[in-house]
Amino acid sequence: MEQTLIILKPDAVQRGLMGQIISRFEQKGLKVVGAKMMQITPELAAEHYAAHTEKPFYAGLVSFMTSSPVLVLALEGVGAIAICRAMMGATFGSQAAAGTIRGDYGVSNSFNLIHGSDSPEAATKELGLFFQEGEILSWDRAMEGWVYDLSGDEPE
Ligand code: RTP
Ligand code: MG
Repeated sequence: MEQTLIILKPDAVQRGLMGQIISRFEQKGLKVVGAKMMQITPELAAEHYAAHTEKPFYAGLVSFMTSSPVLVLALEGVGAIAICRAMMGATFGSQAAAGTIRGDYGVSNSFNLIHGSDSPEAATKELGLFFQEGEILSWDRAMEGWVYDLSGDEPE
């Protein structure tokens, strides 16, 4: 089982899209193991986007991400990182395919609704940045045996 960090960005929260986006992940079969609203500080944004410091869009990105509350989610599933990235779609709303979250709900390139970890290493780092000890829960989901075939050694 893999865990990934998802951030519903300020535009998603302000536009009232939290429920619809969470529903997509739930309906897909991903399990919510952490969720909280927060206001990202400039310090946290700088740590999270450290790789983009030199990019021309960096200042605007930090300003956007700290401008209004976000909802952070920890999602769990087999291959959760790649599944979530596929569901999010291409970075720019103007280019993201229909059927993806960015493709269906946005047209902007900078205000692109959602962040998702892009590798296992990034997921571990980002989950540690955004969730404190005890905020990611291990819980038994009643429908687990219908989301995955659990008859073998690994969920299929
Ligand atoms: P994310 O990290 O948020 O999941 O998005 P991503 O991997 O698809 O995109 P990335 O290249 O990591 O860029 C991080 C965020 O910076 C903003 N951005 N704006 N206006 C621009 O040219 C531009 N390019 C990137 C977006 O908010 C993007 O999600
Ligand atoms: Mg990225």
